[in-house]
Amino acid sequence: MNMMQYELGMDMNTDCHDLGLIDALRHQLALHLGLHFSSERIPDLQRGIEKLALAQGYERDEDFLLKLLSSPLDKPRIQQLATHLTIGETYFFREPGLFDLLRHELLPFIMTQRRSERRIRLWSMGCSTGEEAYSLAILLDQILPPTEAWDALVLGMDVNPQALEKAETGVYGAWSFRNPPPGLREYYFDRRQEGDFSIHKHIRERVRFSYFNLADRAAPLLHGAADLILCRNVLMYFTPEAAHDAGRRLAHALKDDGYLLATPAEASLISGYGLDPLQMRGQVVHRKSDHEFDVVHKGMDVPQPLHVVTHRLKRRPGRDIDPDESHRTIVELANQGRVNEALIHCRRLVDSAPSNPEWHYLLATLLLEQGQPAAAVAALEHLLQLDSAFVMAHVMLGRLYRQELDHASSVRHLRAALEQLQQIEPDIVPVGSDGLTALRLKHMVESFLSTAEASS
Ligand SMILES: C[S@@+](CC[C@H](N)C(=O)[O-])C[C@H]1O[C@@H](n2cnc3c(N)ncnc32)[C@H](O)[C@@H]1O
Repeated sequence: MNMMQYELGMDMNTDCHDLGLIDALRHQLALHLGLHFSSERIPDLQRGIEKLALAQGYERDEDFLLKLLSSPLDKPRIQQLATHLTIGETYFFREPGLFDLLRHELLPFIMTQRRSERRIRLWSMGCSTGEEAYSLAILLDQILPPTEAWDALVLGMDVNPQALEKAETGVYGAWSFRNPPPGLREYYFDRRQEGDFSIHKHIRERVRFSYFNLADRAAPLLHGAADLILCRNVLMYFTPEAAHDAGRRLAHALKDDGYLLATPAEASLISGYGLDPLQMRGQVVHRKSDHEFDVVHKGMDVPQPLHVVTHRLKRRPGRDIDPDESHRTIVELANQGRVNEALIHCRRLVDSAPSNPEWHYLLATLLLEQGQPAAAVAALEHLLQLDSAFVMAHVMLGRLYRQELDHASSVRHLRAALEQLQQIEPDIVPVGSDGLTALRLKHMVESFLSTAEASS
């Protein structure tokens, strides 16, 4: 028995589980990665180890574990374990309530605070394959005034190098868009021949990814570097001690008036260290103490949310269908990935009020979601016969025709969109634009148009 085996209480002649190899591994995972594997999750742990052992050429998991545990875990080993044993579940704009809070309150507020230096740093700690970091960058793109030059970056960090590699590519399959705001893929991604989606370069350029192990006390974290840190669905897998310690380190990395956002289930793990929990729009936000947020929020100076006309569809008379109710059902079904059912409801809605262009628009977005671009084009063309000034229909057609390589039609619709947008107040949010103001949309359409004109 070598020294390490002795310390771990191992005896080479007994079976792996009796030896406590799994317990020893759990101990090492807690120590080096902060991860807690409760007894219910031991089967997950065993499955992960099985795969890793196989990938390392071991026939027996026990042999692999013995080798693994017989010397201190170095960085490559920690990375291997992280790759196989962490849960990387994530998608774009996960939890819409959080992103509403960021879009309408927290980010505009932080921008006001940073107006003089025009510099913002947002972190996604435990970013997995990057969807959360890119969602933040997309929000910045929508919120930062295009006429002002801001030094605004998002930093995504994770301990899983494979996840980071994928994040770097900025290419995602449909599963990463489980609950997307309408139009997300159309505005910010290009569909590739392989059927997946590649994020636009200007968003990609706002995001940096780097390896970071939140449980490694020796890993340096810059003091006061971040304005806001999302660390969501990470600490829930940590031991209470590791989560508490991570909270302390994240607080250290925040600016004096910065914010840390975990999920409500994780909030209690990170109290203390000068972080005050606040309830905002149903979200728990931790704020570093000693600044005037409360005073400002009592009405002195807070930036007002954008003047949102509404992108919820308006109620219009129809036959024995409640359009509001029906709209809610359709959105809920679509958000749950039940697009076929959403389409059935939507077609009923269209039949009940065939002259309402907004229902045709909803139908087109669902058809697109279902991978039927030709049918979406037909729905949008029909919509424009009912209302030729429907900006978002022109924008979407401009994008769709470009994908079909029909550059002339793409240019025609983008010009029509631009013409409409020039007649709208800049802070109005057109129907279906998912919160984008007319001004922001105009800049976007101008950029689409210059690309389309160059190709035509
Ligand atoms: C479930 S994902 C969360 C992704 C994203 N934050 C979200 O909420 O959609 C958890 C991520 O935390 C990462 N993670 C786990 N332990 C970590 C550690 N010690 N340091 C940094 N990241 C860690 C995992 O690799 C995984 O990618």
